[in-house]
Amino acid sequence: MATELDDALESAVKIISETATLVRVVLSGRRRNMTVPFERIDIRPVLIKDAIVLQIEQNDGRATTVKNVAPQDFGARGYLEMGYANILVEHTSGALSIRITKKGEAQVHEDKGAREQNLEHDRRKARLLDPSDPFLIEIGISDSDGRIKPTRSDKYIQVEEFLRLLVPTLNSAIEAKQIAKPTPEKPLVIADLGCGNAYLTFAVHQYLTSIDMPVHVIGIDIRPESLKRNNEIAKKLKIDKTIEFKAEAIDQTSLTSCDIAIALHACDTATDDAIAWAVTGGAKLLLIAPCCQHDLQTQMSQVPEPWNILTKHGLMKERLGDLMTDALRAQILKLAGYRTEVIEFIGGEHTPRNIMIRAVLTHAKAEAKDIESYKKMLKEWKIDPALASRLNVIQ
Ligand SMILES: C[S@@+](CC[C@H](N)C(=O)[O-])C[C@H]1O[C@@H](n2cnc3c(N)ncnc32)[C@H](O)[C@@H]1O
Repeated sequence: MATELDDALESAVKIISETATLVRVVLSGRRRNMTVPFERIDIRPVLIKDAIVLQIEQNDGRATTVKNVAPQDFGARGYLEMGYANILVEHTSGALSIRITKKGEAQVHEDKGAREQNLEHDRRKARLLDPSDPFLIEIGISDSDGRIKPTRSDKYIQVEEFLRLLVPTLNSAIEAKQIAKPTPEKPLVIADLGCGNAYLTFAVHQYLTSIDMPVHVIGIDIRPESLKRNNEIAKKLKIDKTIEFKAEAIDQTSLTSCDIAIALHACDTATDDAIAWAVTGGAKLLLIAPCCQHDLQTQMSQVPEPWNILTKHGLMKERLGDLMTDALRAQILKLAGYRTEVIEFIGGEHTPRNIMIRAVLTHAKAEAKDIESYKKMLKEWKIDPALASRLNVIQ
């Protein structure tokens, strides 16, 4: 007997097969106990040499790959059953969305609004932040004519790509009820730790406000000059009721908790302070792009055989130190009950510091084998990562 999920998937297959009216298909989120090859897949019809083909954009959280497939060769049902929890199929006169619950049941929603089909095959990546937005001019990323300053272009791209990861992660967390849907009375509290000139702080505030998400954003930086500058900009933009700044050290901040902790290149162990503060305050989501790190390199002096081959050359020791620092941060977050991933949030040409630790609080209990391997590594390498001394995840 066909289940509701079967019926819904068949309806989706039918809409996808009608390429003359198909607008797009989005597959995202992971079904319980299933693994998916990509974080998100976007499929849409495009016109190439007078023929419609399906353009498949697959994003693994690091990079997007694109391929085109003839409609008759596209196995729609296979894609729909790949393991994604959220399936959205839009067509010119409506949309079908299927959410597959933890129990494998379908929550189906149909919408009748008209949508436009765009068959251009090389649409440019839509920008989230319009370069002429007054906030970008005020914070000095754009010039007074609303053009990105060449010297600020890397920062602009870093902030855009950071947002590109934050937004779907946040939406999934709200959908999965890991974060309560924000309301004007209870806005989403976001802390940007080590905010500096607050490029990311303002961008997150402005973007989420533009999509009608009630937010309260707090930027924390130890430098009083940052506080003064950022407060003046917030006042000028008339947003000082929903964005605020504190000139405080992260580990001594007067702020006690937040829903989402973000940090973009908080120097060295300030990243550890940020993670420790966020976890202690019960933050539900952490997006942390670490900066330079020296803590472990200085400790890697008694590396066990044969691994000391890896640390013989200064350059490699430094890179290995970076990798180990972030790997152990991710492991500590896992032990603290977070589902944690380490991804590249931007191409290396815009910053060599392009790793992001993304962690969602699930309260999953630490497994004995994870605790064991973590303890064994610290013991054998005779290291004590900065985050471990700030957050005691193993008793
Ligand atoms: C490399 S900047 C990054 C600034 C900003 N996030 C950005 O991406 O443009 C690092 C910032 O972290 C701040 N910082 C370093 N240690 C800190 C600490 N312990 N507490 C608060 N802020 C800190 C510095 O003052 C500096 O503004």
